[in-house]
Amino acid sequence: MGDQIKRIGILTGGGDCPGLNSVIYGIMLKAYDAGIECIGILKGWKGFIENLTIPLNIADHDDLHTVGGTILYTSRTNPFKTNSSKEQVAKDLASKFEELGIDALVAIGGDDTLGVADALYKYADAKVVGVPKTIDNDLKGTHYTFGFWSAVQLASNSMDNLTTTARSHQRVFVVEIMGRDAGFLTMYSGISAGADIILIPETPFDLEKDIIEVLKNRVKSGYKHHIIAVSEGAYPEAESLKNDFKTISQDTINKLPKDTFGNPLLTHLKISQIIVEELNLRDDLKQEFNKNGVDYECRSVILGHTMRAGTPNSFDRILGLRFGLAAMKLIIESKFGNMVSLQGNKMETVPLSEGVKKKYITPDNDKMELRDLLVKIRYLSKQK
Ligand code: F6P
Repeated sequence: MGDQIKRIGILTGGGDCPGLNSVIYGIMLKAYDAGIECIGILKGWKGFIENLTIPLNIADHDDLHTVGGTILYTSRTNPFKTNSSKEQVAKDLASKFEELGIDALVAIGGDDTLGVADALYKYADAKVVGVPKTIDNDLKGTHYTFGFWSAVQLASNSMDNLTTTARSHQRVFVVEIMGRDAGFLTMYSGISAGADIILIPETPFDLEKDIIEVLKNRVKSGYKHHIIAVSEGAYPEAESLKNDFKTISQDTINKLPKDTFGNPLLTHLKISQIIVEELNLRDDLKQEFNKNGVDYECRSVILGHTMRAGTPNSFDRILGLRFGLAAMKLIIESKFGNMVSLQGNKMETVPLSEGVKKKYITPDNDKMELRDLLVKIRYLSKQK
């Protein structure tokens, strides 16, 4: 069983985030204690295929859990993007274990990276376990992923800070926040910072109702500056796109380039800039601002990769270490094909096949109501 494991490989794939090094350090702590050697596989699945490895000697990495990013580098490499069958690719990949001299593998990544790990287990019975990673927090198998709360804090701080310049210039700021398919980052940071409008992918927005009307109501109630938090993946409703938008159409969205896993590269759309351009075309909005003694001015800010940058906060350091420790235990106990998971405040285990499914903000999530009240009640309560 576990005693045949002498050497393991660790890889990190997909977008980086604070806490990846904390996981690596957690794995190394437990591996050292169990007398198991660790090697790092560089650049995710790319390094696995191309034999790019480094030794991981724990004595060389004191306090690695405090450092942001990943010392193993990362890439978005999809080994299944070939003409061969999934089974064949998985079998070919599994033969790399011997070549790399590893008995088991810990894959740290999101749905794409862990999807590959799952196929390796399913089709080739490979000794692989997973650690869920996504800054967007959109993996079904765990309540939280490390890095998420660090990013929420960064975005919330940015919006707090932007408020002072928005106030000085009496401006509208449209702040674009990471989150390709799910709005957790935008929702949590937007509520935390008290953003005036919060737009997420799960609830496609109506330009007229959700933005123009709210801004008009806010200026009528005396507000002179406004912060709009928008997920990079927030889309307009189909009707609104057709009727209200002059600068983009459904065709623009359909033609977006895709990454190697087939995901549309929404950062190319720059929804915050599109919203600014659309608002700038609205004379009725400008007139409402002027009527209320405010010169209309609107700017966009894309937080982008600053949200994944820097050191992990304490929550993410500890969660990363706990995930690392739990993943190493899965290996020692031969519980392959699983990933570690945070349920409440407990470390649990879920099958990779379940864990990699996507998670979204659903209508019953209390943050939905909180958002709607936060947006509405402030201006309503001030109306004469
Ligand atoms: O999936 C995580 C994420 O941070 C998304 O929020 C964002 O769309 C994407 O990665 C950015 O990817 P890249 O680092 O390749 O530009």
